[in-house]
Amino acid sequence: MPLDIVTGAQWGDEGKGRVVDLLSEKADIVARYNGGDNAGHTVTVAKAVYKLHVIPSGIIHPKTIGVLGGGMVLNPQTFVDEIQLLRKAGVEITPERLWVSDAVQLITPAHRLLDRAQDAALGKAQIGTTGRGIGPAYVDKASRRGLRVSDILDGEFFAGHVKAHFSEVNRLLTDWYHQPPMAVDALMTEYLGFAEQMRPYVRRIGPLLQNALNEGRSILAEGAQGTLLDVEQGTYPFVTSSCTTSAGVFSGLGLGVQPVRRVTGVTKAFQTRVGAGPFPTELDGEAAQSLRGTGANPWDEYGTTTGRPRRVGWLDLVLLNYAREVNGFNEIFLTKLDVLTGLKEISVCTAYQRDGKELRTLDFSGDARLLSQCVPTYETLPGWQADLRNCRVWRDLPEAARAYVRFIEEKTGLPVAYISVGPERSALIARG
Ligand code: GDP
Ligand code: IMO
Ligand code: MG
Repeated sequence: MPLDIVTGAQWGDEGKGRVVDLLSEKADIVARYNGGDNAGHTVTVAKAVYKLHVIPSGIIHPKTIGVLGGGMVLNPQTFVDEIQLLRKAGVEITPERLWVSDAVQLITPAHRLLDRAQDAALGKAQIGTTGRGIGPAYVDKASRRGLRVSDILDGEFFAGHVKAHFSEVNRLLTDWYHQPPMAVDALMTEYLGFAEQMRPYVRRIGPLLQNALNEGRSILAEGAQGTLLDVEQGTYPFVTSSCTTSAGVFSGLGLGVQPVRRVTGVTKAFQTRVGAGPFPTELDGEAAQSLRGTGANPWDEYGTTTGRPRRVGWLDLVLLNYAREVNGFNEIFLTKLDVLTGLKEISVCTAYQRDGKELRTLDFSGDARLLSQCVPTYETLPGWQADLRNCRVWRDLPEAARAYVRFIEEKTGLPVAYISVGPERSALIARG
């Protein structure tokens, strides 16, 4: 009964979509356990590019069952739109192979408006959220007045609950944030229509997943965002509102704590971040441009969900080791090694200086204020000039690239089990 977990080791966008697509080839079920449509997971198969926000990345394989776990927050419109996009692309989506937990919390257009108004009101302290209503939906969940997917099944109760929620947010938007009011009736009609379309997909997920494991079927849990965006372990307050780490799998899927076969930490060969918050190894100017790209390539560092340019910097092994501890990684999946081609030298952060002391591991839990006081210490490795995009086995890589990978292994004590050298499914070196 194998349960495998894929989690981002950085601030999101590590390439989890492509990793899950690859590893789910052998999985029976692929399940998202946290977040919502703040996520943007890219899967590239030959010329087809799928950008998935809420449906698990394993769905592209025809036999895999996709699950949206109760730890998620879900906008019904995104769900319905994504189903349509996938169907148009030839992916078969039926309620037999796509299940939504009845415990999922719903995002509404009111949550979205509130998210934007609240982040804008922070002024210079803005988090730079994706504006998808994630924070307000999780706030409603924690304050026990959220809308759950199971509520959709009781039409009259649901409509009343949605109306009360819209009216309450309207008061907040107008009185507190001085925004124009929402047209509640029109929004309600549209929203209830989308929610109704979800009805055939709703399931009680926990027992289904437990049975699947008992019968020897395999589950791959797909994390959204990354460890450093975790609401508890991340660079608080510049985080998202969910548990992004491997710990979130159990409550997010309604499973008891049980042996996990493998926790794969996904990291880029460098560091990126969208939105505000401390980033010790951040680069600017020309050095940043070479890592970010100009936007000409689909994989250049511009957000999948928002299109915002991502902040870029050198790989930070202090943070990677922190992610290893927090998640219990067994292995690393290293993505975007190809992007480092052309650099004369590559720097890697192996320690911080703070208050005149050297830190090789974090002695605090993410806290943004403390992290912003850390000055990175770098070790420098030789770069390489060869294009890696056609490398498919370890010995195809130039010696300098192999040395870079070995350096990461040595400093983290983890095997780099896979290296990707392009966005396409086959652009991969499996170390075996
Ligand atoms: P996710 O949110 O973790 O799933 O990552 P995103 O999809 O938001 O961002 C990763 C981007 O990098 C996407 O455009 C991927 O197609 C691309 N990508 C993934 N792996 C590689 C790789 O090894 N090399 C290159 N050049 N691009 C990659
Ligand atoms: P995937 O799954 C990168 C960031 C936002 C912002 C912070 C809070 O594609 O890796 P939120 O809208 O969640 O309240 O925003 O978190 N963020 C992400 N950054 N990848 C993501 O998802 C992200 N989801 C949220 O940019 O800084
Ligand atoms: Mg992404």
